[in-house]
Amino acid sequence: MTLRITVIGTGYLGATHAACMAELGFEVLGYDIDPDKVATLTAGRVPMYEPGLEELLVRHVAGHEGSTGRLRFTSSVEEVAEFGDVHFVCVNTPQKGGEFAADMSYVDAAVDALAPHLTRPTLVVGKSTVPVGSAARLAARLASLAPVGERAELAWNPEFLREGFAVGDTLHPDRLVVGVRSERAEALLREVYATPVGRGVPFVVTDFATAELVKAAANSFLATKISFINAMAEVCESAGADVVQLSRALSYDERIGGKFLNAGLGFGGGCLPKDIRAFMARAGELGADQALTFLREVDSINMRRRSRMVELAREQCGGGFLGRRVAVLGAAFKPNSDDIRDSPALNVAGQIQLQGAQVAVYDPKAMDNARKMFPGLAYAESALEAARGAHVVLHLTEWQEFREMDPEALGAVVAERRILDGRNVLDPVAWRAAGWTYRALGRPS
Ligand code: UDX
Repeated sequence: MTLRITVIGTGYLGATHAACMAELGFEVLGYDIDPDKVATLTAGRVPMYEPGLEELLVRHVAGHEGSTGRLRFTSSVEEVAEFGDVHFVCVNTPQKGGEFAADMSYVDAAVDALAPHLTRPTLVVGKSTVPVGSAARLAARLASLAPVGERAELAWNPEFLREGFAVGDTLHPDRLVVGVRSERAEALLREVYATPVGRGVPFVVTDFATAELVKAAANSFLATKISFINAMAEVCESAGADVVQLSRALSYDERIGGKFLNAGLGFGGGCLPKDIRAFMARAGELGADQALTFLREVDSINMRRRSRMVELAREQCGGGFLGRRVAVLGAAFKPNSDDIRDSPALNVAGQIQLQGAQVAVYDPKAMDNARKMFPGLAYAESALEAARGAHVVLHLTEWQEFREMDPEALGAVVAERRILDGRNVLDPVAWRAAGWTYRALGRPS
């Protein structure tokens, strides 16, 4: 009999995981405490912008014409316990208010809600990003609360999906990592992932702590790579060198590679910043804080890029923002996403506004989210509208439509042809040829 799978928490990770499990052929029940989310997903709609996810939902959610009917959503935890052979926990672990540590309350609540209803042997699989040591703690809690005791087993299976590529990353991951304590748990997870593993995706079996650490280490490495090149950008600025050429030259060394080596405004989003902070906090608790002091520097380098962008913009405005109009292109933390969590673009827009400029923001997808978070900024309907009358244009999220902008068309509406490329993707030659002052982070003026 095919396994029946449940997914607890239907945010980014959970909604994608549920739809992809249905795509792999399983019967899937998604659970969320929020009835609005359940209704939205049942209607075949996704509450965020994620290319390909809505199509996948409609293909599998019961009740849609031509759907496989393999996917349903509920807010009944009893139904989840009754239905599932394998339960994936996909709730989020945000940064705690006022602290670096991760807030584990959603994960704990999910286990506490589910466990008392587990009356037959099951596997609960954590996918959330958690501090190392959590799985061991949760396994004990699960066994103590579940009527079946130890036969309600835990496994840890971190998730590495990127927003904007969530469906592709879930169906075709680089690797699968499972932290398990029994052959039974490993066998069940091999069954769940038989399709990708059959296609050759590496399947790495570890203990709990290692599986938890793989995720923290992966995100720390990525953040470090970005901050490394941004540190080089700072040096380039002082030395009059060009970080884009530097990065390109480095990328030909296969040991270094070119991915995640784009200098610019740095990283944001719901993962990298909070994950490196939670990792430092956890290492401190374990007495290993010295091993991760470099991550504090990684974080500082990243935040300094935002201040540097504000400084450059002020310079371009003649030394002060009062009475100046600034266009900000981009609000999402990266292109192909409407996620504005810890968005470098909005952080810069907010700082400039607070210093007295009139800021107009445009983003292809993230306007609604941005408006909710920063109601004080002005929002324009297009890049051209945002740029109308601007003394300086800031390119802060590298959407394709911004990469393709025509310097002449934009030049016709601005007050002054000045552009700051916060992502180092525009062609300085073309912009300068159209009479623009082009400046970028880590590049000579
Ligand atoms: C990240 C990890 O990539 C993913 O594996 C993990 O599961 C969750 O965190 P995500 O937050 O979706 O995914 O974003 P990612 O594509 O990694 O980009 C992170 C940030 O780094 C963005 O703000 C992006 O603009 C920035 N970035 C990326 C750079 O500044 N330079 C680069 O070269 C690459």
